[in-house]
Amino acid sequence: MEHAEQLARVYGPTTWDLYAELDRSLAPRGPDWLLTKASEYLKPGDVVLDAGCRDAAHLIQLVRDNNVTGYGVDPVPLHIARAQEAVDAADLTGRIALQCTGMEEAPALGEQFDLVWCRDVLEQVADLPGALAGVSQVLKPAGHLLVFTQVATELLDAQDTALLGAHLGNVLSNLDPHTLETAFGQAGFAIEEKVVIGTEWREYAEERTQPVSRALLRLARLRRTRDQIVAVHGQDVYEHVEANLHWEVFQFLGKLAPTVDVLRRR
Ligand SMILES: C[S@@+](CC[C@H](N)C(=O)[O-])C[C@H]1O[C@@H](n2cnc3c(N)ncnc32)[C@H](O)[C@@H]1O
Repeated sequence: MEHAEQLARVYGPTTWDLYAELDRSLAPRGPDWLLTKASEYLKPGDVVLDAGCRDAAHLIQLVRDNNVTGYGVDPVPLHIARAQEAVDAADLTGRIALQCTGMEEAPALGEQFDLVWCRDVLEQVADLPGALAGVSQVLKPAGHLLVFTQVATELLDAQDTALLGAHLGNVLSNLDPHTLETAFGQAGFAIEEKVVIGTEWREYAEERTQPVSRALLRLARLRRTRDQIVAVHGQDVYEHVEANLHWEVFQFLGKLAPTVDVLRRR
């Protein structure tokens, strides 16, 4: 095709029609989909563990929606303090217990669970086999472990990986789908169902509150004021924030694939 013809195609109606088509929502699933999924594995009176509960927002919803009782664990004291405030405010103090500990220590809770909810946590777990062994021990024989995590795709290149490596919380090896599935198997789990969420939750959020646009704007400002930021906050914090601001962008670009695994003990 001659270049003039190519230009005519670039500026022709077909191209603009495609852009218009891409402005229409594909009705993506949002994060509430995971709560609905969890409900498939819970009945009134059951006991759920939120492994890595942060502020207990999901645990509160799980307990309320399904008429169950719950435990939440998280190793960060500030998270547990906030979670306790939220549980008290939700008037669920008698139905939700919280413990400042890692999921590796779940057996110390002295409870057996119908469902372990583990959302966006395995990326940060230092001892993946230990963490999975911990929850495996506390799952009832017919119980389920519901994992939402991110795996690296073939689009994540070496430079991307090096950048993400500066994140202070994430453990890069846990993003490898093979490492993850091997760890599931070694902890005695079988994958009952796998759902690749891909870009859907990101599309859902972006259509509503534009968090990725905000991350990109923050990234531009971060890089433009690099020297001041490093001087005031330190190189490690600069690099951590730079890595973290790529997280959602990489999900959007398909370099990280958010994935749900429903696991049963073999
Ligand atoms: C990205 S946040 C996700 C929080 C929450 N599950 C959610 O989906 O909003 C990751 C959480 O995992 C917690 N975490 C890190 N290592 C953990 C471990 N070994 N056991 C349990 N939680 C852990 C962190 O403290 C943090 O609250």
